[in-house]
Amino acid sequence: MRIDIFTLFPGWFEWFLEQRHVRNALTIGHVVDPVDLRATTPLKAGQVDDTPYGGGAGMVIRVDVVEAALAARYGADRGERRVIALAPGGRRFDDALAAELAGEPELTLLSGRYEGFDERVHEQLATDVVSIGPYVLAGGELAAMVVADAVLRKLPGALGHEESAVEESFSEALEGAPEYPHYTRPYDWHGHTVPEILLSGDHAKVREWRLERSRERGRGPT
Ligand code: ADE
Repeated sequence: MRIDIFTLFPGWFEWFLEQRHVRNALTIGHVVDPVDLRATTPLKAGQVDDTPYGGGAGMVIRVDVVEAALAARYGADRGERRVIALAPGGRRFDDALAAELAGEPELTLLSGRYEGFDERVHEQLATDVVSIGPYVLAGGELAAMVVADAVLRKLPGALGHEESAVEESFSEALEGAPEYPHYTRPYDWHGHTVPEILLSGDHAKVREWRLERSRERGRGPT
């Protein structure tokens, strides 16, 4: 998997790329490449944004700037590539979308800033507009990291222990429900003990108990 992340702040991703699970993914051949949107702007003095038509506060990232950045990297024909613009009004990111994106050979993430992208970026250049939640971040960088993180950990070998990404919160194995509770030592912590069934050694019973806890959490507070 190759993930290109177009951003005005490529420096934000330095920390992300140094984290162990991301480095693991890179070691086994995956690529995460932050691309500076400003580096290929066709405008003078590194300009990338402009005032909004119709007036109002803030600046909008220009469609020609994004077009130039994509063309510089991919040429005129982007083929079947998924180009995902991150914006608060997009389709809500969830585990199913993470799994779907993990099946792509390559992904392009577009991180906006200021008032976001010119709408024509969403309509004409992106294949998807994705939001990580109903709140407004200062920019799409953290959203791109969230998407990249959730996608990378779905890739075989990226976690270093295969089963972990299969039976986890919201996965098919757990019928889309949140994960069951986990416990480790100490057995007794200030009188709060671990459920006995987990110490029983009866794997079938443990599994049944975990599925039931997961379903319970999926039903939410009653
Ligand atoms: N950019 C700003 N806020 C965002 C959000 N909630 N999701 C995705 N991109 C964003």
